[in-house]
Amino acid sequence: MAKSKRNKTIDFSLEDAPAGVLESIKDEHDNLSQLDSIINQTINGDSFKIMQEIPDNFVDLALIDPPYNINKQYDGMNFKKMTDNDYQEYTQKWINLVKPKLKNNASLYVFADWTTSIVIAPILEKNFVIKNRITWQREKGRGSLSNWKNGMEDVWFLVNDKNDYTFNVDAVKLRRRVIAPYRKNGKAKDWEATASGNFRDTMPSNFWDDISIPYWSMPENTGHPTQKPEKLLAKIILASSNKGDIVFDPFAGAGSSLVTAKKLNRHYVGIEQSRLYTAWGAYRLLKATNDKSIQGYTDGVFWERNTLAAQQAIARKKNAKAKKVDSDKAKSTNAKDGLNDEQNSKKINRNINLF
Ligand SMILES: C[S@@+](CC[C@H](N)C(=O)[O-])C[C@H]1O[C@@H](n2cnc3c(N)ncnc32)[C@H](O)[C@@H]1O
Repeated sequence: MAKSKRNKTIDFSLEDAPAGVLESIKDEHDNLSQLDSIINQTINGDSFKIMQEIPDNFVDLALIDPPYNINKQYDGMNFKKMTDNDYQEYTQKWINLVKPKLKNNASLYVFADWTTSIVIAPILEKNFVIKNRITWQREKGRGSLSNWKNGMEDVWFLVNDKNDYTFNVDAVKLRRRVIAPYRKNGKAKDWEATASGNFRDTMPSNFWDDISIPYWSMPENTGHPTQKPEKLLAKIILASSNKGDIVFDPFAGAGSSLVTAKKLNRHYVGIEQSRLYTAWGAYRLLKATNDKSIQGYTDGVFWERNTLAAQQAIARKKNAKAKKVDSDKAKSTNAKDGLNDEQNSKKINRNINLF
């Protein structure tokens, strides 16, 4: 059945992969032992094997989203729920391989649902310094008649060295609507009035309720069954790495962390066992060369849900301002070249990427 025009889901088959996608993927037959040959690449293969081949000591930030301890199909790979003991061993096994890849001042974020989380917590604590446990409030899945519906996931924030790690708090402020706008001497206190409402930039907490899971009308959405949102990964990448740092993801899925890293001017290395998911990720990476937008992250801040109109208004204002600056510049140049206003405006529109 043909997809509706608004359905942006990336779900092409390997046979129908767009030009350049499959060629951009590395695998176990490539030379993986030099950083130069794996940087900004996704490697298709078994992480437990590939991690033994890539160099040590290059990772600034590791994003680890392994299969949770539940039954799940990943493109033909059947992950079966294990005993708690076995899942702890599985966790220790990837930690043993990831640890040597980390720089001393690196951070790690590990994703888990609550049942998996209580099993891995002691293993994480044994191997790293736990800095925080973030709750991501997400809406997905069916309700239950005999239990509370699961509406959250855990994101563990871990570091190697408690005295040496990156944390850019100003890069991850949350722009919230002001419910009771307070004025002092007639002036807004710590908030800004805009045409779309009153907003305040607030300090980020460990409860994240501003992020939806990707859905069919979002350009980032793929056919991957457990894809993470770019907005969620952007918070982590902006807080815990700097431009030019290297982000590593050994369970890369449809490439969400790699794409977000690229959009935020970080380097990346990813590993994923499914060639299909790797191809979807590779396609997103190619698109990210020209499109750096991250839904929900506009004007250098994260926005609450349901504020798209306000975000678009800001983007329009910025574009108009950029257009005016360009126009003024062009007018003075064109005056010399003899171009009229209409020719000038056409030239500017070609140069500006509208929101
Ligand atoms: C929870 S998903 C990660 C999703 C990813 N964060 C995203 O946003 O697309 C886990 C991924 O790990 C992959 N995987 C599982 N075992 C693996 C292994 N041994 N080596 C490489 N990838 C593996 C699965 O195919 C799946 O895509």
